[in-house]
Amino acid sequence: MTLTDPSELVGSAIRVEACSRTYETPGGVPIRALDQVSVDFPAGTVTAVCGPSGSGKSTLLHLIGGMDKPDSGLIWADEHQVTAMSSSELVRYRRTVGFVFQSFALLPALTARDNVMLPVLPYRSGKQDLDRAGELLADVGLAGREDAVPSHLSGGQRQRVAIARALMGNPRLLVADEPTGNLDSTTGREIVDLLFALRDTRGLTIVIGTHDESLAARCDRTVRLHDGRIVRPPPTSDS
Ligand SMILES: Nc1ncnc2c1ncn2[C@@H]1O[C@H](COP(=O)(O)OP(=O)(O)O)[C@@H](O)[C@H]1O
Ligand SMILES: [Mg+2]
Repeated sequence: MTLTDPSELVGSAIRVEACSRTYETPGGVPIRALDQVSVDFPAGTVTAVCGPSGSGKSTLLHLIGGMDKPDSGLIWADEHQVTAMSSSELVRYRRTVGFVFQSFALLPALTARDNVMLPVLPYRSGKQDLDRAGELLADVGLAGREDAVPSHLSGGQRQRVAIARALMGNPRLLVADEPTGNLDSTTGREIVDLLFALRDTRGLTIVIGTHDESLAARCDRTVRLHDGRIVRPPPTSDS
């Protein structure tokens, strides 16, 4: 795989300390999606956050990605306290995080290359970015498909485009929420293989939300949620 600037491509260590998140609902009954969750995501590891639907996986992923804030508790990315960031600092932090979703979230009218370039379109989009998008598509196994629109790609290929897009900003943390949820099991395994390869070549810290136990079993570490609480704390040794 191509490494643009290896010095930039080092995973962040993420630490979640006693975070709680309650959603207000129109009916007036608040939902405590996370309850005093403490967990570490060591730099360069692939961690599965697993648990049944509604257990709080997506909420935890949004918190560590800076897309949402806890009501209480602290989140650290290396020495930076995400929970103390101003909104402009949070915008910058979010640019160091790549997100991959179950639904792929590609724009149907754009080619694979333009979908990969989406994160940089508001800022700049010169030849360098075009080349970089092409390199990333090659890295995820899509050389030659740069001009295909999503409807001409398989589900697995669409998820590869989404992964390339998530890498466009040189993230240190890659958050994938049910990345194989819309794929058959063989294609899902290939996508997980790709995520592992990216960790190996880029040192990325990867957090995967999943209710698929076979996917979770392949990860370096597993964090289990149930009703917004950690069920079995991950090992705190050198694992
Ligand atoms: N925006 C929201 N407003 C109200 N309730 C929500 C919202 N997002 C999630 N929830 C609720 O919070 C709980 C945890 O949801 P979520 O984090 O999406 O779990 P998971 O990803 O494990 O399915 C669920 O009960 C869900 O219905
Ligand atoms: Mg979810």
